Amino acid sequence: MITKEYITDLKHKGNEEIAHFVGNQRDVGNINFILENLGQLPQNFNPDFLYNLLNHQYAQVRLNAVKNIGKLNGKSDTKSLFELYKKEVDTSVRREIVSSIGRQRKSTNKSLLFDFLDDEDPKIVCQAIRGLLVFENDNDVEEHLKPLINHQNEMVRTVIYKEYFAKENQNKKDALPHTETYEFLKNVVVNSDVLEALKYLPDESVHLTFTSPPYYNARDYSIYPSYQAYLEFLEKVFVETHRITKEGRFLIVNTSPIIIPRVSRSHSSKRYGIPSDLHPYLVKNGWEFIDDIVWLKPEASVKNRVGGFMQHRKPLGYKPNSVTEYLMVYRKSTEKLLDWNIRSYDYKTVEESKVSDGYETTNVWKIDPCFNKVHSAIFPVELCKRVIQYYSY
Ligand SMILES: C[S@@+](CC[C@H](N)C(=O)[O-])C[C@H]1O[C@@H](n2cnc3c(N)ncnc32)[C@H](O)[C@@H]1O
Repeated sequence: MITKEYITDLKHKGNEEIAHFVGNQRDVGNINFILENLGQLPQNFNPDFLYNLLNHQYAQVRLNAVKNIGKLNGKSDTKSLFELYKKEVDTSVRREIVSSIGRQRKSTNKSLLFDFLDDEDPKIVCQAIRGLLVFENDNDVEEHLKPLINHQNEMVRTVIYKEYFAKENQNKKDALPHTETYEFLKNVVVNSDVLEALKYLPDESVHLTFTSPPYYNARDYSIYPSYQAYLEFLEKVFVETHRITKEGRFLIVNTSPIIIPRVSRSHSSKRYGIPSDLHPYLVKNGWEFIDDIVWLKPEASVKNRVGGFMQHRKPLGYKPNSVTEYLMVYRKSTEKLLDWNIRSYDYKTVEESKVSDGYETTNVWKIDPCFNKVHSAIFPVELCKRVIQYYSY
């Protein structure tokens, strides 16, 4: 059996031995094992056998060969790698080639990296951008990268925005430090129309919003002339919520698909997929989608829809009991990482805010609903507790 120790031993003995050893392997798994365990390559390492493996019939072997060639620190033959790139069909190998060339940080490789910017695989483009960004204050690089702000791929646009355009917005200072808010907003309950109340909230003053908007016209506390009007109303609310939310902070929207009962037996009832229909409005207005959490309720607590099917068992007429709602988690889009938000807090606050043992590890939260004579859709305290604990300081 080939061991890591044996490979290390051969590698240091002299190059011919490891090249010979790889050459004698008939088993692809063994070749990959050796290549994956070569580790750091010694100064005098002769990589010829790695270049031969670039023509191997198995993509995993080619990938591992490219990875090792990438460890040659500026001594690798980029021409061979580029030749392989031109004919390679495996996406992982193609990406690794670009990464290997980029990692060398050689300005002579810039023109190759510029070529990769035209690749149709956005990951290759991002990899090439990464390789080019090491050349700081380089006009040539800037001239090639800045126009990618209009690239068709959103990841590419985001990287370019962060590198070249976000700085222009950085002078815009919050009125308050990130961790703070206004005294008049603390511990208040407001009974008002949401759009009216939101007018009184200053920009970037809120750290977390958890809300459960009306379920269109399924309950009678609010009536909208149409589903479109309902979605547009929510859009207005979440545009305002975006304005008052601090950079990079969270919005959690609790909704679920609903059913509007049929008008008569000759009509069918209508389902509305509120979470998925609302989603594009949120994303369009600067909310980044983070997670979908499923709130799972006991079957006995929900309306029985499956009764009819239980009798007739006819396909197409299947209507399961809806035991779930969604908590859709969004973050106010920013080029800053979550770490930036967290680092804004002092040590004591971070320690005191740590979530204790017993936290939910999956995106399915089993929580009993609450019932109340006055309101038909009250939040269970446990649901609010978790949201506040996991998404705020
Ligand atoms: C699905 S319920 C959510 C209730 C929430 N789970 C709770 O425990 O308070 C929707 C709530 O939104 C309220 N609502 C509807 N339209 C509103 C508006 N324009 N402004 C403020 N609240 C509104 C309704 O009265 C209802 O209480």
